[in-house]
Amino acid sequence: MSIEIDVLNGDASWQTAEGVFDEVWPPQVLEKLPWGNVVFAHADLRVFVRAESGDVACHVGIFRREVTWNGRKMRAGGIGGVATREAFRRRGYASIAVDAAVQTMKHEGSIDFALLFCEQHNAPFYQGRGWKPFDGEIYAEQPSGRARFTAIAPYVYDLKRAPRQGIIDLCGLPW
Ligand SMILES: CC(C)(COP(=O)(O)OP(=O)(O)OC[C@H]1O[C@@H](n2cnc3c(N)ncnc32)[C@H](O)[C@@H]1OP(=O)(O)O)[C@@H](O)C(=O)NCCC(=O)NCCS
Repeated sequence: MSIEIDVLNGDASWQTAEGVFDEVWPPQVLEKLPWGNVVFAHADLRVFVRAESGDVACHVGIFRREVTWNGRKMRAGGIGGVATREAFRRRGYASIAVDAAVQTMKHEGSIDFALLFCEQHNAPFYQGRGWKPFDGEIYAEQPSGRARFTAIAPYVYDLKRAPRQGIIDLCGLPW
């Protein structure tokens, strides 16, 4: 018996992701979150971890985006929608899925840095896995227009570049 890791097209696998999201972030939970009203981009790829039972246990979305860092064009790899169904937590599945997402970005070869956004209580999880806080400002699009994005804090995983400060413009919706 073993777990299975799949990296699938984001749109084609949306229904599977939606099942995980509905369980992890039901409307009554979502409405209380600092990012509950944010409009997010759709993932380009999705990592799914299936438990030995065959159940989908964990999801991580992968985003690719031309962003700017201090006005210079860069290719960012985004990670978002990190979620493990409650019954499958603390078995290392999110660690495996985030690692698979970072490996996917590394293999692409063209991504300058990875970027994710998380609530404060999850920061130690990412910092323990090599992610560093980005202390600058993030700008992103929303239906109301371009604005500073402060709902959740940015963390960077260094690839070719190691941004820590300055201004990152996501040049689109956040993830
Ligand atoms: C945050 C979240 C994704 C973590 O998922 P997970 O699959 O439980 O994560 P992991 O099992 O990889 O790691 C979680 C912790 O369990 C520990 N762990 C892993 N396997 C374990 C095991 N067999 N026994 C005991 N602990 C274990 C890990 O060391 C880790 O602790 P650490 O951060 O102190 O190192 C999950 O709690 C979740 O979905 N939360 C709600 C949604 C959310 O907040 N998502 C994050 C958005 S940024």
